Amino acid sequence: MAAIEVVMGDITRENVDAIVTAANESLLGGGGVDGAVHRAAGPRLAQAGGAIGPCEPGDAMPTPAFDLDPPVRHVIHTVGPVWEGGGHGEADVLASCYRRSLQIADEIDARTVAFPAIATGVYGFPPDQAARIAVATIRSAATNVQRVRLVAFDEDTRKHLQAAMTATG
Ligand code: APR
Repeated sequence: MAAIEVVMGDITRENVDAIVTAANESLLGGGGVDGAVHRAAGPRLAQAGGAIGPCEPGDAMPTPAFDLDPPVRHVIHTVGPVWEGGGHGEADVLASCYRRSLQIADEIDARTVAFPAIATGVYGFPPDQAARIAVATIRSAATNVQRVRLVAFDEDTRKHLQAAMTATG
């Protein structure tokens, strides 16, 4: 089981083997955290993403990290669910984002992985529910990843992630 840390910061500055980006299905880049990751990794990231996409919601796909500084070697692109009120399987899709990203991390031998709060921005997933899904899914995952960093970009998200860590013991 991976050790989980909740931190505040910019995921593009994380010193981990792989960072996860909250992409859209094209993998060509976008706004939010995806925009930040593409800006930091450079234009080759969109070229590589475009070559392997589209990526289904709940799935995850790896590319090199290009211009991101070492030790980051990979970007794991995952596509979260658009929140439609909770009755359309959104929770299962979000859990799948975390599970598939860890499976990909194992395939690329990444031992340390940083996640943003997937789907809680543009896609509108309630951050408290998303935090609980993230922590529970990572905790129950059979993975060789040793350390997961849940990177909050704002205090509200950090609070929800920390509460999820405490609530699930
Ligand atoms: N580092 C860490 N987290 C960040 C950063 C950053 N540099 N920038 C934004 N975030 C946070 C947001 O504050 C939010 O908590 O990432 C979380 C996810 O928000 P979005 O980036 O909007 O992702 P999502 O809700 O999954 O929507 C994905 O938005 O940008 C487009 O192309 C993307 O279509 C896709 C959609």
